Amino acid sequence: MRNFLATIGLLAILAGAGAAVYFFGGFYSVGVTAHEPDIVRQALVGVRKASVRRHATDASPATRESPTLLRAGARAYLERGCTNCHGGPGVEWAKFSEGMRPDPPDLKEVAKERTPAELFWVIKNGINMTGMPGFGAAADPELWSIVAFLKKLPAISDEDFKAWTAAAPAAGKP
Ligand code: HEC
Repeated sequence: MRNFLATIGLLAILAGAGAAVYFFGGFYSVGVTAHEPDIVRQALVGVRKASVRRHATDASPATRESPTLLRAGARAYLERGCTNCHGGPGVEWAKFSEGMRPDPPDLKEVAKERTPAELFWVIKNGINMTGMPGFGAAADPELWSIVAFLKKLPAISDEDFKAWTAAAPAAGKP
């Protein structure tokens, strides 16, 4: 029994030393071009989903969905630069976003599968080490308007988006 435990201890020490050499010796590539094994990617996605689900506790405000709210959301979405990575109705993403990994997802698809609270939390806090920034510097009502916009995204035409975002911001806009 003692031999058995000693062997396990020795293996643990060797594994730790091996990992230290691998990571701190520079053998691990941090480049986005180095593809991680599927199992690692799936684990990271699982961790992200579980984390967002547990943290997303803010209830959406009782604001009724209105054309004004959607318009504000569309404008904020463009002005905050979301289109650069995610694109938008009739708006191409910037070329650089094609070199990002993970890929900025198509929000038409993602928004359907997430609760408003989850979308709000992600936009406010970002997702560490993925390139998704946190927009916590913006006021909560602005972020909620983006959530309302995202939830409606599949129904928003290129023309609507163009018209809503072309409107000159009202004087004294917050
Ligand atoms: C610099 C690029 C970049 C910008 C700008 C950006 N995002 Fe993202 N976003 C990402 C990436 C990359 C991911 C994917 C993260 C992942 O797969 O874990 C992502 C993921 C998301 C998700 C999905 C999270 C999920 O649950 O799957 C939402 C929602 C989102 N972004 C909304 C926004 C909004 C709204 C804005 C603007 C206020 C924005 N993003 C700006 C890069 C960006």
